[in-house]
Amino acid sequence: MSVSSIPFLDLVTPHVELEQELTAVFQQALRTAGFIGGPMVENFERAFAAFCGTQHAVAVSSGTDALRFALMAAGVRSGDVVVTVPNTFIATTEAISQAGALPEFVDIDERTYNMDPEKLREYLETQCTVSADGKLVSNRSNRPVTAIVPVHLYGQMVDMDAILELAEQYRLIVIEDACQAHGAEYFSRKHSRWFKAGSMGRAAAFSFYPGKNLGACGEGGAVTTNDARIADAAKMLRDHGQAKKYYHDVEGYNGRLDAIQTGILSVKLKHLPEWNAKRRERAEEYKRLFAALEGGIQAPYEPSWSRAVYHLYVIRTNDREGMMNQLKKAGIGTGIHYPIPLHLQKAYASLNYRPGDFPVAERVAAEIVSLPMFPQLTAGQQARVVEEILTFALMTARKHIESEAISLTTATRRA
Ligand SMILES: Cc1ncc(COP(=O)(O)O)c(C=O)c1O
Repeated sequence: MSVSSIPFLDLVTPHVELEQELTAVFQQALRTAGFIGGPMVENFERAFAAFCGTQHAVAVSSGTDALRFALMAAGVRSGDVVVTVPNTFIATTEAISQAGALPEFVDIDERTYNMDPEKLREYLETQCTVSADGKLVSNRSNRPVTAIVPVHLYGQMVDMDAILELAEQYRLIVIEDACQAHGAEYFSRKHSRWFKAGSMGRAAAFSFYPGKNLGACGEGGAVTTNDARIADAAKMLRDHGQAKKYYHDVEGYNGRLDAIQTGILSVKLKHLPEWNAKRRERAEEYKRLFAALEGGIQAPYEPSWSRAVYHLYVIRTNDREGMMNQLKKAGIGTGIHYPIPLHLQKAYASLNYRPGDFPVAERVAAEIVSLPMFPQLTAGQQARVVEEILTFALMTARKHIESEAISLTTATRRA
């Protein structure tokens, strides 16, 4: 990395800063040979549950497994339909399929980019039928709809009061995909208090992939829940379906999280509130800088009921390619999360969705750019990112004016 380049994400600095504490975890694991299960895992599970404000956390091998185990443990069965959004990482729908269910989609809110409760209502009211035996059945697939997976995308929670109300009305299980939202908060108007991500649904899934707000030095995930039966079922699923060694009640998976990773996560968890606060400060600073730009760039929208943790800082622009090229030339890293909505992915061709089925998700996918965002991002680096965007906006405006002037001159000559 050259001195002046700005990475999209800096994963080196936090690990260098914590090197001593992290190597101590390795030493402890080596000296006790405590690699699988044991106190390191249990301590982390307790600490992470406390952080999320839940009674239980179950450490598993990835966010994808966390979501699959949460769905299965909460009662989603083979052949069910699980409703989610098309603008998420494919792991959301992979987990649904791996639990034996079928994903169906509803569109997102244009401002928050999260599941739109009104679209969910519309889906439940107009695209489902209540069968003679009282089951809610999808008209599209003729299968029972049993669960909803709202995704707290980019670190901002979904409008959960509205989702939970619909879930209650239709007796649906809600499993939060909180894989990008460690520590995000939501103010429930219904309960008049703030809730942490992962504490509102029947259960939730977190990812500890290295680039996440809380990341392991490898793969990792967790299921959080207030339901002891779900926690126990998730523990069995991660461990070959056994609660007692070699007594298998069901077939499960090899989905445990290594003790070393949980030790590392315990060290990092202590820093998470401060890291999240820094991300929020950086987001404020971007917002302030973009305000001066007036138009052209749409900064993230944070409703008054949300305290987002900015896993990603995503803006919207109508010349994404041009802007990304300009930033690339200046040595600034960017990303697109995600360029193709899931309903249009080849992997889901068999679901028979078409372009235009989810217009908001499709429009947003064509215009979003993720800018550098991490706790160690400096104000100077941010100013440079915004300066490059401003230069690009001015260049585009000038080109536009020039081409307008040329066509005006041509028109005048003709006249
Ligand atoms: C929204 C979302 N869901 C699920 C996952 C899956 O997590 P993992 O990569 O740990 O399996 C991710 C991780 O990238 C994610 O961003």
